[in-house]
Amino acid sequence: MSRLIVVSNRVPDIAKGPPAGGLAVALKAALDKHGGVWMGWSGKSSGAKEPGPLHFHEQGPITFALSDLSRRDLSEYYAGFANSVLWPLCHYRLDLTDYARKDMAGYFRVNRFFAERLRPLIQPDDLIWIHDYHLIPIASELRRLGIGNRIGFFMHIPWPPPDVFLTLPVHEAIIGSLTAYDVVGFQTAHDAENFASCLQREGIGGDAGDGWLEAYGRRFRAGAFPIGIATREFAGLARQAVRTAPVKRFADSLEGRDLIIGVDRLDYSKGLTHRIDAYERFLTANPAWHGRTTMLQVTPKSRSDVPGYAAMQRQVAEHAGRVNGALGRLDWVPIRYVNRAIGQNVLAGLYRLARVGLVTPLRDGMNLVAKEFVAAQDPEDPGVLVLSRFAGAARELDGAILVNPYDIEAVGNAIAQALSMPVEARRDRLAPMMKRLEEHDISRWCADFLDVLRG
Ligand code: UDP
Ligand code: G6P
Repeated sequence: MSRLIVVSNRVPDIAKGPPAGGLAVALKAALDKHGGVWMGWSGKSSGAKEPGPLHFHEQGPITFALSDLSRRDLSEYYAGFANSVLWPLCHYRLDLTDYARKDMAGYFRVNRFFAERLRPLIQPDDLIWIHDYHLIPIASELRRLGIGNRIGFFMHIPWPPPDVFLTLPVHEAIIGSLTAYDVVGFQTAHDAENFASCLQREGIGGDAGDGWLEAYGRRFRAGAFPIGIATREFAGLARQAVRTAPVKRFADSLEGRDLIIGVDRLDYSKGLTHRIDAYERFLTANPAWHGRTTMLQVTPKSRSDVPGYAAMQRQVAEHAGRVNGALGRLDWVPIRYVNRAIGQNVLAGLYRLARVGLVTPLRDGMNLVAKEFVAAQDPEDPGVLVLSRFAGAARELDGAILVNPYDIEAVGNAIAQALSMPVEARRDRLAPMMKRLEEHDISRWCADFLDVLRG
């Protein structure tokens, strides 16, 4: 069997606690099963001019190959081009993109560095799998270095339509880099169509039929590979977690109130202020529920060095504070807002306790929290998922109450509907979603992608 080499910017640092982010969580589950090399950023910065050497360490079946990056590289490549240009652009937020040529140069420089360090590790049969928007140029850099191995790319975040993507001054360089892969995977068919439309609109290629695209005279596979979770393991974790001390203590603290839960990195794509407004709307329209629900919003800080995120932190805290100030009582706080990452062994139990899961991003590639919430439910007495139609997960989780997260009143009504849904209806909604998640779990995702990549 050929070896697997995975490259991603974010690699979980087990010593530092839970990885809060879909990519690290999903790839850890995939590589734990498959074994292989995982290359990426160490999570550390240095004052050096150049990126540091690779540090190797083994953990179970995975060999990690990590590098520190210089502060300049991180500012240009990570905070700059990746997170101030590609992230907002791919989440349809042209208003937040901040394009600078210097950052673009830094992005390509760091990608070249990763490719050069990767090259000596590659054996002839290795399958190489690159992940996410930080590392799009790796294949073209590896090809330049003479690497002929099969190389796949998976985009964990959305791909926007041409009218959005083509506003990027260097869109051609990015699209061109993607055409050097053998397989390009997206979360949904919609994202894959948007990418093909970009090729077509620019006159550089298009759909060649049967899951193939053609560009610059080269053919490659492209399509949807919706990412899954380790469904059975997560369901087991949730069953155990509700019996642990921290989850029991939390359950006691609810004093019989119905729990509504939200779990998201602090990111503008997650629709947090809209969500808090919707909860407020639900409460003002339904006074009978005052004192009878608690909303827990778990929101670890994320990318605090990227302009836009700090302002967001203030806004979300202000919204939560306003609702608590206006509607709270001596014996009731409507929203509990936590700015820390919570480990999945506790999180799974919190999902299972909840009557309602609120997953209302304004745009999201997949959203693993939605899938985890479903997997964690007690099939006899499940909670209800309220899910944004603009999350990739909405294509699969049809037992959720699907909402438009911009429509605050509709989300408020969905919360009321979820809280008062009879148990039979809740079970009927859960069963097909559970089946889907069991059949399309993280191993299946990995196997499906690698099958295509093997060719
Ligand atoms: N997560 C976690 N602890 C937290 C918050 C999030 O472990 O406090 C995990 C969560 O369980 C999920 C991932 O981080 O697996 C978030 O993935 P998702 O696809 O929902 O969003 P992303 O952060 O990738 O945009
Ligand atoms: C999303 C992205 C990942 C990223 C994660 C956390 O899941 O798709 O690539 O790792 O968010 O963000 P961070 O910037 O902390 O790595």
